[in-house]
Amino acid sequence: MKASSLIEQGIKREQPCNQRSGEGESTMPRYFIWTIGCQMNKAESQRIAGYLDAAGHQATTSFSHADLVILNTCVVRQSAENKVSGTLGLLKGLRNKHPNLRILVTGCLVNADTQELRRRFPYVDLWFKPGDYSELISWSQKRGIPIKQGVNLPRAFSPCALIPIIQGCDNFCSYCIVPYRRGREVSRPLGEIVCEAEELVRRGAKEVTLLGQNVDSYGHDLPGHPDLADLLNELSNIDDLLRIRFLTNHPKDITLKLIETMASLDKVCEHLELPVQAGDDDILRAMRRGYTVERYRELVHTIRRKIPQISLSTDIIVGFPGETEEQFERSFTLVRETRFDVIHVAAYSPRPGTIAWREYQDNIPSDIKKERLHKIEELQTAIASEINSQLQGKQVEVLVEGRKREKWFGRTRSNKLVFFEDAGDWLGQLARVQIEKTSPWSLIGKVKK
Ligand code: SAH
Ligand code: SF4
Ligand code: F3S
Repeated sequence: MKASSLIEQGIKREQPCNQRSGEGESTMPRYFIWTIGCQMNKAESQRIAGYLDAAGHQATTSFSHADLVILNTCVVRQSAENKVSGTLGLLKGLRNKHPNLRILVTGCLVNADTQELRRRFPYVDLWFKPGDYSELISWSQKRGIPIKQGVNLPRAFSPCALIPIIQGCDNFCSYCIVPYRRGREVSRPLGEIVCEAEELVRRGAKEVTLLGQNVDSYGHDLPGHPDLADLLNELSNIDDLLRIRFLTNHPKDITLKLIETMASLDKVCEHLELPVQAGDDDILRAMRRGYTVERYRELVHTIRRKIPQISLSTDIIVGFPGETEEQFERSFTLVRETRFDVIHVAAYSPRPGTIAWREYQDNIPSDIKKERLHKIEELQTAIASEINSQLQGKQVEVLVEGRKREKWFGRTRSNKLVFFEDAGDWLGQLARVQIEKTSPWSLIGKVKK
């Protein structure tokens, strides 16, 4: 495998750190990576941390302790973009106090026209496109901050690894800014992904999550056209790998072959993220999603028939331009009838440059959007509460990811978050947990020894 991918999974090490002028101050440059947005951003931040760790930089726990700050940004909705602008404003103040502070920005705020960004935020030292590490490396080398590809140092252990398998998106859903910021689809060679997974497992990873805006288009641009099902088959052969996940699937592209492969491979977890976005055909057409509600319902039916234990997540947008009360009710009905395990619901937010922004007026008042959003959230809370309460008294298998507020936490194969208290060291272990308390969002139990 390429040495560069050996350090792809750098995890930010949260170490106690000193004040800028504090006692025992280290001369190592200290960095802080601020990350918002999706799993892809999280994976890319881990990789940046890997480069910085390999170059001998030290992770620190806040902006104010850092010499180098990297913002990994998201602009999927205006609210995310506002968060980014707010943080940049805060950094402007910090930079005035500490002129040596270096500020680097990546993620989906970075568009083709960095000139405009540089004008708006002159105190940012470098803008680099998501995944464009060569820019970061050449910038740092020019400044005598050695960041090299291909250096392999031991890093903090995470049992759950994230592996991007396809970059970009070719779909151009009418509301979505992602294709404009992340470009066209580019799949990573299958062999390279398998080697990376093997290396991560050698270092202690027990689970891999394969990432892409649309994992169902994985491989179409590669020689021989391998697909996600082929990749899952290959990864299943890695001995000490216990679990395989992937996200996000697209209802127009997911194949029967993939569903049957999931059903046949023990290591592939019974969980799918299958965003529906709306429950009305006219809205789906205006969104350019490429399927009907009927097709989506059939798909869910097939998946549940083939994989009875499946847990399903979805995304829904309310208040898309022109969405009538009846059209919203169809999304509500779909949620009520489908009984998803998890729903991410968002109010439509016009994104400059997208098709919907150009062609439609954002004509649903924000109080109506909020009302619709709350209605779906309330319904989903009740559904998730019922679904999760069925686990009361049952034993579940949890892969332990870490500790939070004195408790171990991890996920079931169906992606339910589980907490338990125990004095032992469970990190990276599979724990059998007897569920004692359930809520719509998580479960609490006792570990069986
Ligand atoms: N590739 C994934 C995720 C894309 S962004 C997919 O195809 O689903 C994550 C979610 O943000 C989307 O599923 C959508 O529900 C939401 N989203 C994207 N653009 C939006 C916008 N302009 N307004 C509101 N929600 C949006
Ligand atoms: Fe956006 Fe659609 Fe691509 Fe998902 S599939 S990233 S919603 S354009
Ligand atoms: Fe946000 Fe970009 Fe992900 S806009 S949701 S960080 S792909």
